[in-house]
Amino acid sequence: MSKFQRYTVTAALPYANGPLHIGHIAGAYLPADIYVRWLRMKGEDVVFICGSDEHGAAITVKARKEGLTPQAVVDKYHEHIQKTFERFGISFDIYYRTSDKLHYQISQEFFLKLYEKGHFIEEETEQYYDEEAKQFLADRYIIGTCPKCSYENAYGDQCERCGASLSPSELLNPRSALSGSTPVLRKTKHWYLPLNLHEKWIRTWIENGTLEGEQHHDPEEWKNHVLGQCKSWLDAGLQPRAMTRDLDWGVPVPLPEAEGKVLYVWLDAPIGYISATQAWAMQKNKDWKPYWQAEDTKLVHFIGKDNIVFHCIIFPILLKLHGDYILPHNVPANEFLNLEGNKISTSRNWAVWLHEYLDEFPDKRDVLKYVLTSILPETKDSEFTWKDFQQRNNNELADILGNFVNRVIVLTNKYYNGYAPAPDKYYDNDKETISEIIRIVRRVDELIGEYKFKEAQFEVMNLARLGNRYLADNAPWNLAKDPNNSSRIRTIMHVALQITANLSIILYPFLPDTAAKIQRMLRIDIATWIEAGRMNLIPENHRISPNAEILFQKIEDSVIEKQLAKLETAKLSVNDSVAPIKENISYEDFSKLDLRIATITHAEKIPKTQKLLKLTLAVGTDTRTVVSGIAEHYTPEQIVGKQVVLLANLAPKVIKGIESKGMILMAQNRNGTLAFLQPDKVIENGGIVS
Ligand code: 2FM
Ligand code: ZN
Repeated sequence: MSKFQRYTVTAALPYANGPLHIGHIAGAYLPADIYVRWLRMKGEDVVFICGSDEHGAAITVKARKEGLTPQAVVDKYHEHIQKTFERFGISFDIYYRTSDKLHYQISQEFFLKLYEKGHFIEEETEQYYDEEAKQFLADRYIIGTCPKCSYENAYGDQCERCGASLSPSELLNPRSALSGSTPVLRKTKHWYLPLNLHEKWIRTWIENGTLEGEQHHDPEEWKNHVLGQCKSWLDAGLQPRAMTRDLDWGVPVPLPEAEGKVLYVWLDAPIGYISATQAWAMQKNKDWKPYWQAEDTKLVHFIGKDNIVFHCIIFPILLKLHGDYILPHNVPANEFLNLEGNKISTSRNWAVWLHEYLDEFPDKRDVLKYVLTSILPETKDSEFTWKDFQQRNNNELADILGNFVNRVIVLTNKYYNGYAPAPDKYYDNDKETISEIIRIVRRVDELIGEYKFKEAQFEVMNLARLGNRYLADNAPWNLAKDPNNSSRIRTIMHVALQITANLSIILYPFLPDTAAKIQRMLRIDIATWIEAGRMNLIPENHRISPNAEILFQKIEDSVIEKQLAKLETAKLSVNDSVAPIKENISYEDFSKLDLRIATITHAEKIPKTQKLLKLTLAVGTDTRTVVSGIAEHYTPEQIVGKQVVLLANLAPKVIKGIESKGMILMAQNRNGTLAFLQPDKVIENGGIVS
């Protein structure tokens, strides 16, 4: 019996600033879902919590990029993410959002409690301020030259070229991403959590698993890379960290002197787990408190490795200082999943987007679950490739699992009209097979409990392998040629049916759709783990379905090639050397441009210049001269008579003694070649372009 009465399982709250990809799924959500489905099957009291993280610069940066308000961004992506999780079948008890009013209240109360207990240090420091935009700049809003690799567009918290973790004061030539101006240093007050004061007990808790002298958890059960990352933070010495920010998006700091300031997103987000639990309890008419406050509750956080320090050091310190809460018993973080040899990158569109996968493979969500679980980055980074996806589907799911189940259903119908036979004498081979079933069931149980989901799924497949071997070794189809073998065949088919039923149980946490299909074919409904390992799941005369459904279709090469081609297109279209899109402008800004169709009536080279042509244009309203830098691309003869687009109200400028009135619009390739923009039918001169 477990010493825990209930389980609170959380999966990292994804930022509501973009769609989900397979890296997210392999990082936290799939392992958490397997763990929770298993707990539920064991009859445990468990709540599975997730939701959207809707605050912080991650959201405001995206809002600027998309030309939306932060509220519109979180509304859009919260809904999208929630729906995608649902379509994929991740079985949260609640998918919450941190913009919920209840969360504001809970996170503010949390902050105030620590404030009143004197756990924060108030400190005034100098931070970058944008005088044009009239606001302090979040680290992400400060751009400058990386001191490590000289990349000119490094962010205040990180250089995306060399990966260095930076602070804004390290950037050379800092500039504001909001206005482009050079920010100035200005004083601002914030509330800091002196992590350094808690270093001693947090180290003991992490390294020995003890808290106030009592054993809290077994550190042997924690992953090495999680412990390693914590230790390197502790060895470097913890520093005070600001729990408030100057930002106009987030939960307001509940202090009168903190107007315009919000809670640090890494304070408010993990508290979101607690708010979500309260929201869930209200919906279900339950008491939320035991899930966060009772010592006999096991709290487990599923996250990706970039969140380790927040969940293993900062949040536990906050929970302990608050005083009412339990600490996590494990944080089984995963490492990163790469894709086809490269890091997954949202901005480069180098990703397999979950919603697109579900659109393209609507009946194959279990295939993706299976493949991702097979390659989970549990202890080191791993890699998804479409070829491997195809091979695992064809050689493992179809050939091993699908094939075994299909044979059992078909043979039971063929020999017994679908009525399960009673066994006769058991031979050594039957007995060994039965004890192997029991061993596998126990092993899967142990491995899931140790968060070794990849190995656990492999053991589940071993049961299908065992089934195939058992049938192949005993070859009932050969025995069936002789009527004297009928009692032997009954035993074989009885054992094969029990293997199939057991498979449907232990497969469920991993591949719920497939498990349900197998149970439909067997006409059983067993959702409890305790039944696993039994040899009477399909009793004598039980009637199974006459139809053997194909569980997994083979995936053709063309399907995989299409996916690879899609990735290649993404790579080409979002290339580093394509200039980034400029900041948004209003329609009003755009409408100031007077764009007209004009015809080039005359062109000549301007003497003593390489690049310049003097053009005469018929603009409808007038005839004018424009100096254009296209002489290296066109001769005068090539362009006379062409219709072009003219920016007609650009302030006149004297170039080489010639007054140029306007500018011709040109498009440019990355290799520097130029082209005119032309209407696709004749438009009269002076025609408005809008
Ligand atoms: O890294 C992230 O995507 C964060 N939004 C995770 C937050 S987890 C929790 F603390 F809410
Ligand atoms: Zn750099």
